[in-house]
Amino acid sequence: MQQCAACHTLAKGGAPGVGPNLYGIVGAKSFSAPGFNYSAAVKGKAGATWTDDTLSAWLENPMGYAPGTMMAYPGIKNAQTRADVIAYLNSNSDKPEKLP
Ligand code: HEC
Repeated sequence: MQQCAACHTLAKGGAPGVGPNLYGIVGAKSFSAPGFNYSAAVKGKAGATWTDDTLSAWLENPMGYAPGTMMAYPGIKNAQTRADVIAYLNSNSDKPEKLP
């Protein structure tokens, strides 16, 4: 998560950085944070729901999920690390989702 903090804030009400604030992202609509100027690459994928599965796919390979995305991050190849990151994101939420 330290790597993510270079571009994202996680605190409730945190300001966007290079990327959008991630508070409450699990269960939220994808690429829909108000006021954040998303790249064209992800606009076509906006409005889906971020679940364990969709977040895992995005975080494994952002450039594969949305070619041309501004999220210049190679991805988390280790499935356990991805699950840990998603669980951590989920804990930063008003209403955490039930994860598998
Ligand atoms: C180099 C900067 C950078 C790093 C590092 C980075 N991100 Fe991002 N992230 C972005 C940008 C920029 C976007 C918006 C993508 C776009 O518009 O193409 C984004 C989008 C996202 C989204 C979708 C947000 C939404 O509103 O739907 C999630 C979730 C996310 N990042 C999680 C992470 C996590 C977790 C990490 C660490 C493992 C991480 N990011 C690392 C820049 C970054």
